[in-house]
Amino acid sequence: MRAIEEKAARAYRERFDHEPEIIASAPGRINLIGEHTDYNGGFVLPCAVGRRVAVAMSGGGGELYSTNFDETRPMRSEKDSSWADYPRGVVWAIGEAGYGIGGFRAAFAGDVPLAAGLSSSAAIEAATALALDTLFGLDTDRKDLAVLCQRAENEFVGVGTGIMDQYASLLCEEGAALLVDCRSLEAETVPLDLKKAGLALLVCDTQVERGLSDTGYNDRRAACERAAEALGVEYLRDAREEDLKLLSSEELRRARHIVSENSRVLEAVEALRAEDYRELGRLMYASHASMRDDFEISTPELDAFVELAEESGALGARLTGAGFGGCAIALLPAGGADALARETHARFAERGFEEPTFYEFVPAAGAEIARRTGGGST
Ligand code: GLA
Repeated sequence: MRAIEEKAARAYRERFDHEPEIIASAPGRINLIGEHTDYNGGFVLPCAVGRRVAVAMSGGGGELYSTNFDETRPMRSEKDSSWADYPRGVVWAIGEAGYGIGGFRAAFAGDVPLAAGLSSSAAIEAATALALDTLFGLDTDRKDLAVLCQRAENEFVGVGTGIMDQYASLLCEEGAALLVDCRSLEAETVPLDLKKAGLALLVCDTQVERGLSDTGYNDRRAACERAAEALGVEYLRDAREEDLKLLSSEELRRARHIVSENSRVLEAVEALRAEDYRELGRLMYASHASMRDDFEISTPELDAFVELAEESGALGARLTGAGFGGCAIALLPAGGADALARETHARFAERGFEEPTFYEFVPAAGAEIARRTGGGST
């Protein structure tokens, strides 16, 4: 078992005085390319990261314990704007989908940084959903579990995100990225062997916190919907480049990002399949420029990292996730990550930015059951 899974199991034992029946975990993610395209019915290319949320769980009772917050909250309760709303939301969504599940207790432990744009919320939802699915023998398809988790986030927690993060957390495979068509919900694994290519992917957390309930995300979503309506299409996914001339001002800029970003995702997949990492890198820089200039979701910190990456010879770099803070990624020759991290520290200090932190990225496995004892509860 992974250390984080052991930690959840230990916390469960200490708290509840018996062995948990199920131990599951689910990862956070980065997105290689395809930002804000998911709720426009478009394409995304995320990868699971090596940081996860683990849950230890058994049937009976009704307490939720978090090692990160060192507190217990009741499972059955109104929303209270805490971490417990994510597992509660999953239980609510399972009920809405027509499944009956009994009471349970659970202990959570996670090392996905919070509010950094690496999808800690999708990780807690996915870990909970997979553990409950196993504990109560629901036998739900991973894709359906992801849709349940998105529903929990949209309708219970109340954050209007797309499907990318939940899909990534539940469906990614080790050593690969995941191409998702967010309209058909078809997903396809795309091998990503950076080591073989002699490359590394550095994740820079700018330490500028972002929350998805921030108005920025909702504003972008609303502008995309207005643009789609003006063009008479259900989703901007269906708009073509030549349609853009029918739009102006904010709607034009937002739609131009979505239309060009969707093409870039498909080109990036082709580049990956051809092991053409220069082309992948070029697309990443182009994606960042589009998010900075047209979608306007970058920050001075994210731009500074991407500029430095380019100066230091990285193949590509871009902000990843919703933007407005959080993380950026750079694709660079293996062995170049430390130097770029050092230079970023220095440049951020010079410019009076928060001290950034860095993660080494390896395309990790999606949600997994780490251990299961006994049969399913009812
Ligand atoms: C957040 C949302 C996703 C997606 C990204 C932007 O991570 O949860 O659904 O919209 O932002 O690509």
